[in-house]
Amino acid sequence: MAKIVAVRGDITRESVDVIVNAANTTLLGGGGVDGAIHRAAGPDLLAECRTFGGGSQPLGGCPTGEARITKGYKLAAKYVIHAVGPVYRDGGHCEAEKLRGCYVHAMTLAAENSVRSIAFPSISTGVYCYPGKEACGIAVKTVRAFLDGNQEAMSVRFVCFSEEDLEGYRRQLGEEA
Ligand code: APR
Repeated sequence: MAKIVAVRGDITRESVDVIVNAANTTLLGGGGVDGAIHRAAGPDLLAECRTFGGGSQPLGGCPTGEARITKGYKLAAKYVIHAVGPVYRDGGHCEAEKLRGCYVHAMTLAAENSVRSIAFPSISTGVYCYPGKEACGIAVKTVRAFLDGNQEAMSVRFVCFSEEDLEGYRRQLGEEA
């Protein structure tokens, strides 16, 4: 039975096989959790991210709604999966579909790399202004559906930076149980 939990903390300190980054299409770093992960991983992470052609390609290093995998370098995690969430506008620009895509692509990359444990931040709910409750519902439902459809015994941790986010995830997980 796959295990999904919500915890409070800093995702850069998670000792899991892979941590997921809330990145932008260039994959060249930023603020928020993106900045924290790059600081913790060290400069080699950015060097690998540059190999995806961010900034020079039409869709940058990774289109919105998709994800790319790199090594974790100085992080405890073996890998970082960089997921590019949507900027929330009004809910009428495929934001939910693209956010769902982040979780599907991240879980698919994790399964392809035989990952046993993965930690997610609350993608798009910071700078990208996605409403927390709605984003949390998409995250939990999408991850659960993926695990139900796959044999991989993967443990999933939603790492919340605020108490409010943690309460939302725990409520959603309880409702979903
Ligand atoms: N650990 C866990 N969660 C964190 C951490 C951390 N160290 N730092 C921030 N968060 C949380 C935020 O509180 C928020 O709930 O991550 C969630 C996502 O917020 P952002 O990091 O702002 O990401 P997002 O909203 O997806 O915006 C992405 O911001 O940093 C830039 O380069 C990034 O352009 C991209 C955009």
